[in-house]
Amino acid sequence: MNLLIIVAHPKTESFSFAMTQKILSQAEERGDTVNVIDLYRDENQLPFFVFDDANDVPIRKETKYFQEKISKADQLIFVFPYWWGGMPSILKNFIEWNFSKGFAFKYVNSKPKGLLVGKSVKVYTTTGAPSIIYKITGANRRIRKTFQQQIVNFCGMKLTSFNIYGGMDKSSTNTEFILNKVTL
Ligand SMILES: Cc1cc2nc3c(=O)[nH]c(=O)nc-3n(C[C@H](O)[C@H](O)[C@H](O)COP(=O)(O)O)c2cc1C
Repeated sequence: MNLLIIVAHPKTESFSFAMTQKILSQAEERGDTVNVIDLYRDENQLPFFVFDDANDVPIRKETKYFQEKISKADQLIFVFPYWWGGMPSILKNFIEWNFSKGFAFKYVNSKPKGLLVGKSVKVYTTTGAPSIIYKITGANRRIRKTFQQQIVNFCGMKLTSFNIYGGMDKSSTNTEFILNKVTL
């Protein structure tokens, strides 16, 4: 399987990168081909999403580069910290630029049709708040649903797992404990 890991964290010494490393070694052990896009450090940095016509966003060299990687992948794996109730803005910006009309979806008789059919998606994220809080308030379900319905399904892909690990700001023992649960 050809995997594309997209990681969004400003620091490589972060739990997001520890998860990325674990996923990467499990994938390599399994014999998968793995590509990693490190959004903060990739040389193909995209500015904030702008357009004259949202229905005809010009192809940039950076979007071409990222879209080629997306096209080749059987599975996309997103790894990011949960910030302000959602994903970091650098990842949202990546999606706004790259999951564009004509590449990730199109309209047929005014109905959206996903074009990334056949690809599966996995998500790994962590919250500072303990899981129990976000389970009770429904915040965990909200981010999963938004990701699944508005991004993954909209583009014709399939969400095969969505992992939210809570209480990441607590202690290093908790970090090890959570890391042990991370599996591809
Ligand atoms: C800008 C910012 C916003 C955050 N927003 C939330 C939040 O909405 N809910 C929450 O539980 N934790 C929040 N946190 C805590 C992070 O989720 C936590 O630090 C992170 O999951 C730890 O993993 P990391 O080592 O990969 O950063 C926020 C942290 C930052 C820096």
